Parts: sequence; structure tokens; C-alpha cells
Amino acid sequence: MKNIAVLASGRGTNLKAIIENIENGTLKANLACVISDQEDAKALQRAREHNVEALYIPPGPKKTWLVPEVEAQYIKALNDRDVYLVCLAGFMRIIKKQFLDAFPYRILNIHPALLPSFPGLNVQKKALEYGVKFSGATVHFVNEVVDGGEILTQAAVPILDDDTPEKLAERILKEEWRIYTVAINLVLSGKYKIEGRRVIKTE
Ligand code: GRF
Repeated sequence: MKNIAVLASGRGTNLKAIIENIENGTLKANLACVISDQEDAKALQRAREHNVEALYIPPGPKKTWLVPEVEAQYIKALNDRDVYLVCLAGFMRIIKKQFLDAFPYRILNIHPALLPSFPGLNVQKKALEYGVKFSGATVHFVNEVVDGGEILTQAAVPILDDDTPEKLAERILKEEWRIYTVAINLVLSGKYKIEGRRVIKTE
């Protein structure tokens, strides 16, 4: 079984789903560690509760990204644990070239909208305000463009007339918990090819 790691900054409900899906056999992976840039992240607590190694690696001086020396610490921690696939799950830092080069096509992210619509933050509110009738969730490879990598899988969620950003976020999250496992299994199986921007199953 290949090693994965989850990087999370916050409450970690996607992490929870990953752990549960590993425990129930739906996700065929070994969770080697959880790393956070926030010492008090609930995600770290969740990891410890499930006897998964929880590492806090301080983010350094910048607000939205990790300086090269800090990125090097993340890379070392992942390599020391023989991590094959890095799964960002609410990790609030932009991943730069050094990190991307260390894990080519081996870093995934989950986003609570149907990319390329609504990249960035507060996207449930943005989708509501724009008036789209469907939003959803996207799992994609991470590249140098924020929320811009090749798409592995998506799930659509209808927007209801009486929706609020919170209610919509809750329904999207349920899809996130499901599709992250689908995408991780696909990458770990190796049964896909990338043509242009398209990720295509080979079996
Ligand atoms: C999710 O909505 C995810 O799509 C986004 O950040 C949120 C993380 O939630 N990238 P959680 O920490 O997994 O509960």
C-alpha cells in the first residue's frame, strides 16, 4: 500500500473522511502523517486520535505561502516518511516550485466549487451571488496556478432558492468527502493518463 500524507490548516473534515475510508477499506492507502502549519489545527488532533503521526511545521514569516527554507522542511518530512502522494485538504498555503518539483503530479487539492469557476476563497458565497444553479467540488492536481491544475474528478451540487453560503458549503462538503477518496484511489492505482489538461482513466 502506498503512503499518503494530508496537509491541513483547519478543522479537517476531509481528513476525517480519508481516515474513515482507509479504516473501512474504501481508500486503499496508508496515511503516513498529517502536517499542519497551524499548531492548534483540529486536523492534528483528529490525526492523533486515530494514531496517525501529527506534525506541526511552523509556516515561517509569510502569510499565504511558505518560504523556501520552510518548504524544504515540509519536503524532508514527507520524504523521510516515504510519502508518494500529498493531499491538500484545507491547507491555506500556496505551494511553490520547489515543493511541486519534489512531488511532480503527486500533490492533489480539493476545492469547494466546479473549477475553473470560482477559484480562491469564500467560493460558496461567490457562487450564490453570481447566481449559478449548480456548484460542487473538484479534486485536481496542484500546479503553479492556484486551483489551476488538471482535474481528476468533480461532483455537481444544485443551488437551492433558499440557500445560504453555509447550507451550500455543508452539501458540497458531503460530496468532497466522497470524491477525494475516488481521486486518491485513481492516482494511487496509476490507471490514468494525462492528455493536454484531460485526466483519462485507462481501465
Ligand atoms: C474544504 O471545503 C475544501 O474544499 C477547502 O477547504 C475546506 C477544508 O475543510 N479546500 P476541512 O478542513 O476538510 O473540513
